[in-house]
Amino acid sequence: MMLVNRRQFLSVSGTTAAIAMCSPYALFANTPASHVQHSASGTLQAMQDLEQRKNRMLGYPINMASLPEEFFAWRKQLEITGLTRFPFNNIGNPYDHSPIPFNSHAFEAELIDRFGAVYGFPPDNLWGFLTNSGTDSNMHGLYLGRTILNHATGVPPKIYFTREAHYSIQILRDLLQLDWIMVATRPDGGMDTEDLERQLNNNPNHPALVVATIGTTFKGSIDPIDAIQARLKNRVAYLHLDAALFGGYLPHTRFAADLLHEANDPATGTKHKRYDSIAISCHKFFGFPSPAGLFITTRTNFERFLAQFSRIHNPEYVHQVPGTITCSRDAVKPAEFYFFSSESAFAQQAADARTMLENTDYLLKEMNNHYGDLQPVRANDRSNTVYFRTPGKAVIARYSLATMRMALGEQQASYAHVVVMPHAKQEILNRFLSDLGKH
Ligand SMILES: Cc1ncc(COP(=O)(O)O)c(C=O)c1O
Repeated sequence: MMLVNRRQFLSVSGTTAAIAMCSPYALFANTPASHVQHSASGTLQAMQDLEQRKNRMLGYPINMASLPEEFFAWRKQLEITGLTRFPFNNIGNPYDHSPIPFNSHAFEAELIDRFGAVYGFPPDNLWGFLTNSGTDSNMHGLYLGRTILNHATGVPPKIYFTREAHYSIQILRDLLQLDWIMVATRPDGGMDTEDLERQLNNNPNHPALVVATIGTTFKGSIDPIDAIQARLKNRVAYLHLDAALFGGYLPHTRFAADLLHEANDPATGTKHKRYDSIAISCHKFFGFPSPAGLFITTRTNFERFLAQFSRIHNPEYVHQVPGTITCSRDAVKPAEFYFFSSESAFAQQAADARTMLENTDYLLKEMNNHYGDLQPVRANDRSNTVYFRTPGKAVIARYSLATMRMALGEQQASYAHVVVMPHAKQEILNRFLSDLGKH
């Protein structure tokens, strides 16, 4: 190895080295501009080529259907305001006054009100905001729950979830330093509430922070909200719903009541809450073009949380206690996602949800008829996911299928799944079915 001292280095390298040391363009300092352009245009071309493949994406819950022209017209209108041309910032609580006037809080609060109504939150007891992703929404739900329960009892809660929960729950319980309890599952992959009760009884000195997944990532299983709530009765508990995918479409189907925040109590004629907060991804069912999430809870929960949060967070600098973990927040996404909260957008979502579930019926039937050896399973009639024994590598690659090893009796076996999103029309599914036969 050749060592050079500082003087030699400067004399040999001159300005090039100086640039290299301090400029973000350093990487390109010795690179002919044409090469850089070539590489960028090559990357652009490769990205553009991906568009032809988008409808074949069957393995992950992302809606690849093209958005309507009206969405892009809405974007244009937003652009005229300057929103995408200089730094707007949604720092803070969208329902509170912001010291930074360059924000889209009005759109953000309005869209939370509209989606809150979809999930049956009372309009006068509703709070939320547009997050960066489903994971970010889960993080806020768990942080709220932990803070409220900790304050109520003086003891940190234990967190309860099943092994079917999304892997981000493991990350978040680590981040929040919570002791966790893995609750057993039923054969359909939903939470076994008898086991939940057993585990709650084994941990009587800790409040319970329970995550119910409505549409688990791989199997599409559903944790039963009301049966969980029945086990939580007379305990200090907080129930957060991770409805990343199913939360987008169930409200527009005959299963709309599944996710309602309140239920009628026939015995007393009163309403009771079924859960504390809910997380939904915007890029999954809705097909919003960048990751974002809805986080919705009650104003009562938010205010209980805020009372504690304001002791951690000095509000002086931003003139309010924001109630969000992140300080600066994207102003573009809420303004753009507002488009998805109109009556006509809801009507489109209802049509997409119907087709999606019909297409899932179709896929399951065809797989049972022609590929029974792959043992296809749909966990429940709300699910748009069919999982089955792993097919050949070429099909996995062609349709970007997710695969996972799962227990099959005493053995482990490898499974793949198809998530039937709105772009997965019968024509695409037919091609997939025919390709399954070739491999
Ligand atoms: C059940 C569930 N929760 C959370 C997530 C994470 O959502 P996001 O990718 O929006 O962070 C996923 C993603 O697949 C999921 O399936």
